Amino acid sequence: MNRRAMVAGNWKMNGARDFNTSLVHDILFDARGFTDIDIVICPPAPYLDSVGRQLEGSSLQLGAQNLCEQEKQGAFTGEIDGSMLRDVGCAYSIVGHSERRALYGETDVRVMEKFRTGQVHGLTPILCIGETLDERESGQTEAVLARQLGAVLDACGIAAFKQAVIAYEPVWAIGTGRTATPDQAQQTHAFIRAQLAAADAKIAGSTRILYGGSVKADNAEALFKCPDVDGGLIGGAALKAGEFVAICAAAQARNK
Ligand code: PGA
Repeated sequence: MNRRAMVAGNWKMNGARDFNTSLVHDILFDARGFTDIDIVICPPAPYLDSVGRQLEGSSLQLGAQNLCEQEKQGAFTGEIDGSMLRDVGCAYSIVGHSERRALYGETDVRVMEKFRTGQVHGLTPILCIGETLDERESGQTEAVLARQLGAVLDACGIAAFKQAVIAYEPVWAIGTGRTATPDQAQQTHAFIRAQLAAADAKIAGSTRILYGGSVKADNAEALFKCPDVDGGLIGGAALKAGEFVAICAAAQARNK
């Protein structure tokens, strides 16, 4: 297992200038020794520039939570284009988070377009996929994941995953305090990797698959020990420096 672990903090729609400054300050100070992992901070769009400046000179990277599917700038009121995200220092963009799929109507096709456009602009997409509780309980987990991942694989090709990260986020675990067990996570991650491997085993072996959904300091270690779990996409716990840094420590420990 030589995939470099990653921990990405998805702040969602939370933040304010003073809060961000002190949160990032504390994370930077406490995470300075974690040189074997990638740490990504994804603040809300209005704060990307200022958080990006604060991260300058550190090994931490900046990510957006969303981007417009259009490749060129123009008359798309309220949207944010991938080149702007690169301009303010983003290296990554989350695409297809379940909140965007459920609350803002993002379809598999739209998510695929965002993935593709992100790459056109040099962003590494963090592609979120995951099933709802109903889907899990009715035995549809694998079919749902295969459909969500397949929409991107079919349109963009397996080579696109050389420069992409996948986040498996069971919808029933997001913000609920209910985490997938390490066994559930491992089994599902292995399924996702097998789908990639069916197209190209080498790329499948090097693609990072993060787990997301109520990851906390006290469950991160067990999750990250699973062979196919390469780190985490962190929501609520990313807003507390101590929790977030402890999760980063668990990822760093996995790499040793
Ligand atoms: P959570 O969110 O850690 O608060 O469950 C994870 C996510 O939605 O990315």
